[in-house]
Order: sequence, then C-alpha cells, then structure tokens
Amino acid sequence: MDTAIDRALARFPREILTRTPTPFDHLPHAGARIGLDLYLKRDDLTDLALGGDKPRKLEYEVAKARMSGATVLVTCGSAQSNHARLTTAAARRVGLGAAVVLSRDDHLVFQGNLLTVYLMGADVRFADTDDHWDLERHAHAVCDELRANGETPYFIPVSGSTPLSCLGYVRAGLELADQIATARLQPAAVYTPFGTGGIFAGVLSALRARRIGCPVVGISVNRTVDRCRESLDTWWAAIGELLDLDPARSQGPIEIHDRFVGRGYGDATEDCLDAILLMAETEGVLLDPVYSGKVFAGLCAHQREGRWQGNQPVVMLHSGGTPALFAYHEEIRAHLVKRGVEVPDI
Ligand SMILES: Cc1ncc(COP(=O)(O)O)c(C=O)c1O
Repeated sequence: MDTAIDRALARFPREILTRTPTPFDHLPHAGARIGLDLYLKRDDLTDLALGGDKPRKLEYEVAKARMSGATVLVTCGSAQSNHARLTTAAARRVGLGAAVVLSRDDHLVFQGNLLTVYLMGADVRFADTDDHWDLERHAHAVCDELRANGETPYFIPVSGSTPLSCLGYVRAGLELADQIATARLQPAAVYTPFGTGGIFAGVLSALRARRIGCPVVGISVNRTVDRCRESLDTWWAAIGELLDLDPARSQGPIEIHDRFVGRGYGDATEDCLDAILLMAETEGVLLDPVYSGKVFAGLCAHQREGRWQGNQPVVMLHSGGTPALFAYHEEIRAHLVKRGVEVPDI
C-alpha cells in the first residue's frame, strides 16, 4: 500500500537490522484453551541476537547515530535488559562500540540478557539504582567519559523509545494492518505491552491510519494508568509531527491496564507464570516474565471476565524478551512444581 503515512515514513533514513514482515500466526490450541480466536504477531522473531521489539526501534536511531559520526552507542536498563542486548547487537552489526549501564536489581545473574551483552563485548557498568531515570544520569556520565577518551558516543534512552524510534512501531503497525487485511479479520482487540509506550503509540498510529478502529489494549509492565496515558499523549503528538498527521486525529478506543504489574517491574506474578505455561504447553511459543507473559495474562483475565466473544479474533503482539526466561529459572521451577509438574531436583 502507498498512502500518505507510508510516504511520510519512507522519508526517514533507516539502517535495516531485521528482515520483515515478521510472521502473523493463528494460535488454534491456545485459543481453544481460553475460548478465543487468537492471533500472534511474532516480533519475538525479529532476527537480531534473539529478537524482540528493539531492532525495529533501533533502525531509525542507528541510522541517525551513523550519520552523526558516532563511534559508540550508549544506553541503560535493568540487569536483564533486552534493550541492552539488542543495542549491543545493533552496534556490532554496524561496526560500532557499545556501552551499557545496568541496574543492580533482583535479576542480576550471569544468565539471559546479561550473559549476551558480555558475549558481544559491551562495556558494561553497574549502577546501584533501579530508577530508570537515574540510570540515564549514569549513562550521560559514561558519555562524558567516552568523549574525554576521544570517542563519539550516541545516547539512546531506556527502552530505546524516542519520537524517531516510535516510527519503527508505526512500520510494524502498518505491517500488522496488512496482515489483518490479508487474513480478512475484523479483530475485536489488539493487545500490546506498555512500558514507555513507544510500541503502543506506534501501533495505534498505524492501525488508525489504516482505519482499523478496534480497541487497542495496553498492558502496563510498570507504570500507573495515568502515567501511561501521559506518555502515550507525548508519543502520539511526536509521531503526528514527524509524519505530518493531523494533531487532532482521534486515538479511537484505547485501554491501558495497570493491574497486572504485580509488585513492580519484572515481578513474575502467578498469573503471568500461568500465562507463560499455557502458551508454552499449547503452542510451543515462549513468552517472557516481564512483558509478553503479562500481556497474555491480561488477555486471559479479560477473557475469563467475559470481555470477548469466543468467535471474535483477538490479536496479541509478542514483543520478545524471552532470553530473560533463563534468569527467572527459580521462579519458573517453583511455579511448575506448584502446578504439579515433576521437576527433578537438580
Ligand atoms: C520485550 C519488550 N517488550 C516491550 C517493551 C516495552 O516497550 P515500550 O517501552 O515501547 O512500551 C520492552 C522494553 O524494554 C521490551 O524489552
């Protein structure tokens, strides 16, 4: 399709980091288990270092970094940050250095994402905070240090979300809209994770531009609904400005839920672990305990509450994050035992 939004998007330089489109899968077994016609957009299968949402976001930021003569990409996140893994991988793919500032948090184990950033040779620093904005302060200090050593750092914020990188999820949303049209579906809802809201705002912008008017449902992984809405409005306006969209265009029906967060970011709640187990044993698809497991937990809870009709197609975006599973092996093991699975004592 070649509409105004496609043409506006094509104006922005992009460093291709993954092949697209990612698959759009029907999940008959998981759907039958929960009583829905379920579809999964497989952004866990983007093909950069174990996949996820970041390659699409980084395509725009890395293009800008290279044009500005950067020598090192610098970012920050949790100890099990997917973003740190994929920023490091993107930097390596285009021949740049990578420095990452990570928090000393509950999942600081040499497993999953943390293992991969070391493997790819990132300059890893730790900060004694789990406040993401405080981490940015530390990352800026690393940028100063790198500059003093003659490098040209390029800073990418937490989660990789910037107005420019949201365009990656506008592209993803357009791709999804085309897959929905090809499958001749009229979805009852599209579910996405909501962290900083970059994914949500990008997908929402694209679906509305393609005149898909169903509710878009964001499952918060850390923030309250009010904070999520503030971020959404910021990204929504920024995307509109970049792509010359009407600032007064309607967001249409949206929902953001914060009741699946649990005790905080990265808390593998019981519902989340059940959702991961259900998806794994019915479809052989691995979700993660921080993002996609919570989205599926939210979707399953809504279904139990009678929110959707059995024959209505519901679409979920799998944004990746699966390497973090390995850092949660203790929680997962305990949950399997609780659900009656015999796990050897090893
Ligand atoms: C796997 C995964 N899904 C979703 C998100 C959240 O995306 P956003 O910040 O755009 O809401 C992240 C952010 O780090 C992530 O790593």
